[in-house]
Amino acid sequence: MGLQRFTTLFLLALCILSQGLAKGALGFACNWGTRSSHPLPPQILVKLLKDNGFTQVKLFEADPGALKALGNTGIQVMVGIPNDLLASLASNVNAAIAWVNQNVSTYISKNGVNIRYVAVGNEAFLKTYNGQFVNSTFPAIQNIQAALIKAGLGRQVKVTTPLNADVYQSDSGLPSGGNFRPDIHDQMISIIKFLSQNGGPLTFNIYPFLSLDADPNFPKEFAFFDGSAAPVVDGSITYTNVFDANFDTLISALEKNGFGQMPVIIGEVGWPTDGTSNANIKNAQRFNQGLINRIVKKQGTPKRSTPPDIYLFGLIDEDTKSIEPGPFERHWGVFNLDGSIKYPLNMGGGKSLVAARGVRYLPKQWCVLSSQANVQDSAAFADSMSKACTYADCTCLSPGASCSGLDIKGNASYAFNMYYQTMDQRRDACQFNGFSVITNIDPSPPQSACQFKIMIDLGKHEKKATSFAAPKWNKIDFMVLLISSFMFTLVLLLCI
Ligand SMILES: *[C@@H]1O[C@H](CO)[C@@H](O)[C@H](O)[C@H]1NC(C)=O
Ligand SMILES: *[C@@H]1O[C@H](CO)[C@@H](O)[C@H](O)[C@H]1NC(C)=O
Ligand SMILES: *[C@@H]1O[C@H](CO)[C@@H](O)[C@H](O)[C@H]1NC(C)=O
Repeated sequence: MGLQRFTTLFLLALCILSQGLAKGALGFACNWGTRSSHPLPPQILVKLLKDNGFTQVKLFEADPGALKALGNTGIQVMVGIPNDLLASLASNVNAAIAWVNQNVSTYISKNGVNIRYVAVGNEAFLKTYNGQFVNSTFPAIQNIQAALIKAGLGRQVKVTTPLNADVYQSDSGLPSGGNFRPDIHDQMISIIKFLSQNGGPLTFNIYPFLSLDADPNFPKEFAFFDGSAAPVVDGSITYTNVFDANFDTLISALEKNGFGQMPVIIGEVGWPTDGTSNANIKNAQRFNQGLINRIVKKQGTPKRSTPPDIYLFGLIDEDTKSIEPGPFERHWGVFNLDGSIKYPLNMGGGKSLVAARGVRYLPKQWCVLSSQANVQDSAAFADSMSKACTYADCTCLSPGASCSGLDIKGNASYAFNMYYQTMDQRRDACQFNGFSVITNIDPSPPQSACQFKIMIDLGKHEKKATSFAAPKWNKIDFMVLLISSFMFTLVLLLCI
């Protein structure tokens, strides 16, 4: 009797648990950017996502490696369409049909990828694009929607377009004064109307870091969730952080135009760890921990109590990303380029962040400035530095960044090493006009955030991947599978 009751309770608990999991009770979302000289194998990154409770991921384009690795994982995927494809997709519905066929339908049916959204364009209305994509975005959205319906995916896959928060503003400076930018106001209304008719959400990227970085008078504490900034009072609402204020400016803009109930996704939000003085580990940890806490608590904003889905930017550093916006661009990752942890994060429920597993590295050797080198007034030396920093990432040397405290010799060693590592420690990659030498002693300055890195070994990963290609079933795997199928069926029957 006692045992029976226990079994019933146990199965009931399992039912509740499995239903909770199926609904994605607790899950995080993030952006997976692939602009890297040494991208980790997609299988390792997918494992990293799963290990850390990420149940939703956004890709900037239909990257075949990433999509295949996401197959049969259950992870929900938002696939992006780069801005340079908008014009052709806008002018020709057949281009949209071909795009959906190659980049959505095939991955769903052949690879079991759980694609849920197509993100048409990326911040296409950004002011700095000077209207370049303004006319093509809406027709591209319409054509992609038509193509999804034609492919029988109209219900399963929703269309959206990630926009920068600069599409809305407030004349009063308060969230309640929010409205869309006049130059794109009509486009915005057409898009919102269309998306709402088709069940698609709006997606916005909000960056308190950029507000702080761009404006020396920005009250720094207001950028954080636990800040001690003087609150902003807007009627009956008091704002203590810029994220809430910014999001509610958007909600006001939507209300003003009759779309107060429109679903919203935060497509990107995060904090970089290097490249400028505000981009450091301490600030990034403080901001992202505050963000994670809100996600775990399911906390909304004063004007919208239901929290949006929030896609962290980003999963991992990208050392070949354009640094036009600033040297911090290559350091947005929660993880370093090699999948290691930058700073601890409490992910809720007593879980902490875990690093990527199975990462292989090049040998422990560095390329540095030779002690005999005479660096004074030498054009050859300047050339060497310039070559190293053209082909490798020197953003950690920028003013305010982690290695900005180095002297000219330290600078050279850092640059030479980055080049040497980026070139996979090729022997001829440590030949800078006789200025350089290979060492086995870690040249990183002690007690400093400045790290002289060792690159990951892509060759070793490739070999490993091929040896993994034909998985063999062993007896234990089979038994486990058999038992779990049996248990699952039992649970399912009892749930019904
Ligand atoms: C699918 O997406 C990739 C990556 O963005 C792109 O290069 C390719 O042209 C797309 N396919 C079609 C048929 O548009
Ligand atoms: C967009 O369309 C408007 C109205 O037809 C036109 O005046 C404008 O020049 C177009 N912009 C671009 C960048 O093509
Ligand atoms: C080190 O290199 C960076 C980037 O090239 C440069 O901005 C900085 O002035 C250099 N510092 C010294 C001491 O030469």
